[in-house]
Amino acid sequence: MENARTAIIILGASGDLAKRKLIPALLNLCREGVMGQSTAIIGCGRSAFTDGEFRALFNASEPFASRLSYHKGIAGLKHHIADKGEFSRVIIFFSLPPLVYSETAHELVSEGFGSETSIIIEKPFGADYQTAAALNRQLARYFDESRIYRNDHYLAKEAVQNILVFRFANSLFYPVWNNQFIESIQISAAETQGVGSRAAYFDTAGILRDMVQNHLMQLLCLMTMEPPHSLAPERIAEKKVELLRAISIESCNRYQYEGYTREPGVAPDSLTETYAELKLRIDNFRWAGTPVYLRCGKKLDRDSTEIGIRFKNLPINVFAQYGPASCNEIVFMIQPQEGIIISTVSKEPGNEIRLKQTAMTFCYHNSFTKEIPEAYERLLLDAVRGDHTLFVTAAETELSWKILEPVLDKGDLGSYPQGDAPAGKMEVDWIEFGNYCCNCSRPPI
Ligand code: BG6
Repeated sequence: MENARTAIIILGASGDLAKRKLIPALLNLCREGVMGQSTAIIGCGRSAFTDGEFRALFNASEPFASRLSYHKGIAGLKHHIADKGEFSRVIIFFSLPPLVYSETAHELVSEGFGSETSIIIEKPFGADYQTAAALNRQLARYFDESRIYRNDHYLAKEAVQNILVFRFANSLFYPVWNNQFIESIQISAAETQGVGSRAAYFDTAGILRDMVQNHLMQLLCLMTMEPPHSLAPERIAEKKVELLRAISIESCNRYQYEGYTREPGVAPDSLTETYAELKLRIDNFRWAGTPVYLRCGKKLDRDSTEIGIRFKNLPINVFAQYGPASCNEIVFMIQPQEGIIISTVSKEPGNEIRLKQTAMTFCYHNSFTKEIPEAYERLLLDAVRGDHTLFVTAAETELSWKILEPVLDKGDLGSYPQGDAPAGKMEVDWIEFGNYCCNCSRPPI
């Protein structure tokens, strides 16, 4: 990395994301020695700061502090960087409102940023298919697709990165990963927090745009895509795109938590959903007939993201006289606990046959001693390395929007009490994720 000197520029550098995630991630990468000694980090924004004032915003101390500098506005940014030396690679993080992505890309190119430059952008990438496609077209005028990194921070979560490893590095599961053996796939993302200070954005988005179009769709891609020919990012993206083309929504129910319209910044007559449950189908040979259920929302009773695979029952239950056949489930715990649990049925010790639901557990905290890195560390590092694997392509975002389009802002809006999940209208036997705990030192959810 040292041979190719890198400059990392953060646009919108005094904002919340830079403070909470980006600068701390860069600080860790430098501390761990992963980011080359000569990497320069430049904050850029509308406010005027001296380098010293900017460093003070993050309590930056040496040796990290001397890598940090600040420049007001994009005009003159090239000069500012040139003063720091020659950089063969420039990574520019847009910590900016998406509405200004296109004009900012234009300004950067006018300022002289060229083929050495890559940009990282954050969701939302459009608000529907049309706007997403338009954004992709506008950005393509200034930056080649190979130099655009669309960030979906879920892809950088450790337990999410493990999904492809679990599926494609273990021979055990490959033969059963299909509609012959799997009854349903369920993805669930629950948060206890409400819209907080992000009402202005969230109220125009809703949970379908905020979480389902991006994070949940990406999780589904990883769970159900075909094996790629290689781990080259383009090969993985091809398989995701192939899968996304086969997905459609069978039903979707939207809900809003009680009191949402009284939140500061929310329209009093808002019809924005804060919870949604969806049933999807995947029309390909592997998955036809296996439904996918998604549920996702805010102000629920817990914070957790899990993916469950429920297997079909055996053709005959030879233990029928000892109790109902209990189907097997594999649960991927994404957060806050990270691990995989495979539920099985076992014989309870004793002179009689008694069946008991048991579990085989893999838990990160019991299996590894290494700290789990923050998602933004990995994403920034990968952009510096030029690795697109954990980023989303233009085609993936557009196809995800196409899938969601028929249900966006449509249908009745149910309600639910804060701190509780809606009963839901879907005929589905939801996996009780709360029953699974990997027994690591952390308390159960
Ligand atoms: C963001 C959404 O993309 O993801 C937020 O905009 C949501 O509304 C957040 O709270 C959840 O991320 P995490 O990593 O806390 O699960």
